Amino acid sequence: MQENKYPDHIGIIMDGNGRWATKRSLPRTMGHFEGIKAAKRVVKAATELQIPFITFYVFSTENWRRPKEEVKYLMNLLSSRLFSETDFYNRLGAKILIRGDLDKFPKDVAATMDATQEATRDNEKITVSLAVNYGGQDEIIRAVRKWAKFTEDRPCLNTETLRTFFDHPFIPPVDLIIRTGGEKRLSNFLLWDSAYAELAFFDTLWPQWGAAELKNACEDFAGRTRRFGGVLNE
Ligand code: IPE
Ligand code: IPE
Ligand code: MG
Repeated sequence: MQENKYPDHIGIIMDGNGRWATKRSLPRTMGHFEGIKAAKRVVKAATELQIPFITFYVFSTENWRRPKEEVKYLMNLLSSRLFSETDFYNRLGAKILIRGDLDKFPKDVAATMDATQEATRDNEKITVSLAVNYGGQDEIIRAVRKWAKFTEDRPCLNTETLRTFFDHPFIPPVDLIIRTGGEKRLSNFLLWDSAYAELAFFDTLWPQWGAAELKNACEDFAGRTRRFGGVLNE
């Protein structure tokens, strides 16, 4: 009998902010503002469901292609809102980690992200990883570069070794990827670690998503049979 349990690591592609705003004749940026409230609801719900790891897709390596004003707004949101929410994370016992290439960020944004990680480092109830300037392909390339730089006596490279060069290798591979907003694609999210992830798609736009939907997704996950390429023992 397989033990059916909730995922240890959930990844969330928070999609649909722009459409949420456009539908209400608001600028797309208001959708991002509203999206933060949804993210906070979901972090709280995840702690209540005792999920130990959650990763939010905040800004992809491809999102720099968006209009300058939107990118600027998102950067401002990151620097102004992230650190100011430290009390909220500390109350929940949430450790914040950034996953992605921070070199490309404006200095003030990078400093805020560092400060937030530092201020929440002792929290142990849940690890909230924020994928910013994150791309699954970029993560693999950065890991290969680090491996090549720091490995003098190069043994045969294998999957476990390469993974130790990822940003936070102690975060386990993602068990369940949720995407809101109706699209059914990964858009460069956690490509390596999603090898055996279960996938769940919701039509609901991200600003309207929340605790009830997270619980449903976890229940559905708990009912799935994962084989990891093997066969089930009867
Ligand atoms: C996702 O919502 C949030 C980010 C990429 C930052 P979108 O902004 O992609 O919303 P839609 O897909 O245009 O509705
Ligand atoms: C994925 O959403 C990126 C984030 C949620 C941060 P996008 O809206 O950028 O993805 P595409 O362009 O629809 O594939
Ligand atoms: Mg989108």
